[in-house]
This record gives sequence, structure tokens and C-alpha cells, in this order.
Amino acid sequence: MTIRTTRLALTAIAFAALATAAGAQGTGKLKVGLMLPYSGTYTALGVAIENGFKLYVDEHGGKLAGREIEYLKVDDESDPAKATDNVNKLIKRDNVDVIVGTVHSGVAMAMAKAAKESGTVLIVPNAGADAVTGPMCAPNIFRSSFSNWQPAYAMGEVAAKQQGKKKAMTITWKYAAGDESVNGFKEGFEKNGGKVDKQLTLPFPNVEFQALLTEIAAAKPDAVYAFFAGGGAVKFVKDYQAAGLNKTIPLYGPGFLTDGTLDAQGEAAQGMLTTLHYADGLNTARDNAFRVGYAKAFKLQPDVYAVQGYDAAQMLGVGLAATKGDIGKKAEFTAAIEKAKIDSPRGTFTMSKSHNPVQDIYLRKVEGKENKLVSIAIKGLTDPARGCRM
Ligand code: PHB
Repeated sequence: MTIRTTRLALTAIAFAALATAAGAQGTGKLKVGLMLPYSGTYTALGVAIENGFKLYVDEHGGKLAGREIEYLKVDDESDPAKATDNVNKLIKRDNVDVIVGTVHSGVAMAMAKAAKESGTVLIVPNAGADAVTGPMCAPNIFRSSFSNWQPAYAMGEVAAKQQGKKKAMTITWKYAAGDESVNGFKEGFEKNGGKVDKQLTLPFPNVEFQALLTEIAAAKPDAVYAFFAGGGAVKFVKDYQAAGLNKTIPLYGPGFLTDGTLDAQGEAAQGMLTTLHYADGLNTARDNAFRVGYAKAFKLQPDVYAVQGYDAAQMLGVGLAATKGDIGKKAEFTAAIEKAKIDSPRGTFTMSKSHNPVQDIYLRKVEGKENKLVSIAIKGLTDPARGCRM
């Protein structure tokens, strides 16, 4: 190496060091790692989350707390077996400042473990894994969505107390989200006098429902509670109708069963009751503005996933504003989000001690292409955060 090339190389190293230092001080681009499903049954959910996140950033001139946002993306394929490698691409290879992801609970638990070990800020914009804000809770881990328990528990209460159902069956994919969702329903249902007498499962993301629908028809429960989402939810609701079951046994679920899916479900979903932290027809100024902005930007109607992505960006913005863009100031960053009131399209929410939204759960009814607001099923519902010590 000549003296000149050595000098050039040293200058390049010095610049790189300076750029890193500048980043740490809250200037320069902030690297946001988006780890989401861009293939498989949850693809539409990943896209809606990314859209929502970008909408909020774009409404603020492409910046949060004065820092331009740079996106690095990984398709997690909703595959827990690849999750640790995938999240490490963002943490170790791309050196991101913050990770936003994901949809699938099994993948999210691997992400939470990696975030806890590395100290990287993680904002979960969907996956409801109870453990993320339970035993795995940490100062640098936040959720902008829900815990699997929240909408499920509310539906159990509605089914028993308001709809007077006594005997229910559940059906879901056999993985954390499905298990926790049916358990939450069972808890709410049985506390109010109902009984879940059979729990059916199939592996994620299988959609061969026929044999299980035959079992339901034979058992004749008063109601069925199902957790499915994305492409799988479309197929399940249509198969339930094709089997003629919707005429005799009401199908309930958390709102994922009918959110972002109604165009494809059409007639099969009409009249269905679900519970969720978002609904169509909230008709607040905040939600109306969000919906107009989203429709204009993406030529699509927003759904709960879009809202969760949008609010992940809001939460990041709150933390960065308090630290003048320096995400390295971890204690101030965390404290700001912990005391914030997030002005969400769903309605204002705050963070629980374990960093999960404390939020209203709505009862909704499918009418045409909308999950129309019926009532507030449970106001300000806090996840019990079993096992979180923080
Ligand atoms: C989850 O795996 O936690 C999950 C996936 C899709 C949903 C909701 C929860 O719509």
C-alpha cells in the first residue's frame, strides 16, 4: 500500500467513526429494521404494518425528532426456525438503531430474546405473544398492538354475558398465538358461567379444515371461537359458511378473523361478531384523518394492522423527541414512552408497566365490507402481564 492510499484508507476510517459517533448523538439517519412477513399467509398484515409506519413518518417529512429514517427490511416468512438468524441480520449485520416487528408470535419471541440480549430497542407492531410483555418484558421492548389475551378475554365475556352462550368449542392453529387466544376466551367465558368443552387445533399455517368442521357439526356447541388471521382467516370463514354451520352455530373470534379480509370473505362473514382494539365507524376526528391519509397514500382502506404500524412509529417518535433523536439515551427514551398518551386512530392509549397498550376493546359486527362498531366491550383493558418483573 502506498502512503497515499494508506492516508485515504485512514481518512475513510475516520469518517466512518465520525458518522457512527454522529449517529449515536442523534444526528444523521436513524436505521429502522423492519422484520415482517412479506410472504405466506400473513403477507397482507406485514404490508399494512409497513404502510402504517411509513404513513406516520411521511406525515412528519420523512423524519422523527429531526432524524431522517432509513429502512432495512427482512422477510421473516412467519418462520420461527429462521427468526434468530433473521433478527441478527438487522442487529449485527445492518447495525440498526431500532427493530420493528413482527406479526407471528413464535417469531416475535425469538426477536424479544435477541433484543433483550443486545439492548436494541424493539417495538412489536402486532404479535400478541403474552410472554413478550410477560416473562420476557424488558425496558427496551414495547408493543403497539395487543396481547393475545386482551381481545380473546373480552370475546369470552361477551359470548357468555351478553349473548347468553353456555357451551363453546374453540378452533385454532397450534402455536403460541392460537393457544393464548383460546385460553383468553375460555377464561372470560368460564368466569361468566360458560364452559369450553372441546379445543380443536391444526398446525400453522394449514388450511385443511374439513375434518374439524365435521367434528363441530357433530358436537353442536352453542358457539365456536376461532383464532385465524390473514389468508387462513379468509379460508376458514368461507369454509365455515360452505359447511352450512354459520346458520346454526355463531362463529366468534378476536377481530383478526375479519380484519383486512372482508373483500375476500364477502357473504360468508356477514353478521359476525368479533372483539378488537379497532373498529370501522369510530368516527373520531383522529381516526377519520388517519383513514383519509392512508387511503390517499396506498389506495387501500386501513385495518388494525395499519393502525398498529402507525402507532409503532408514533411511539418511536415520542421516545426520540425526549432524547433529541438520540436512541442511545435508553433511560430517557423508555421513560418518555412509559408516560406518554399515544394519540392513536383506535383512541388514546397508555403503556402498562410491562409496555403493552392499556386500551378499549370494541365489539364489532360485520356489515358489508366493514367491522362496524357496536359498543365498547371492555374499557381500558390492561393485560395481566403474568410473569413480568420490571
Ligand atoms: C400472532 O401470531 O401473535 C398473531 C398473528 C396474526 C394476528 C394476530 C396475532 O392477526
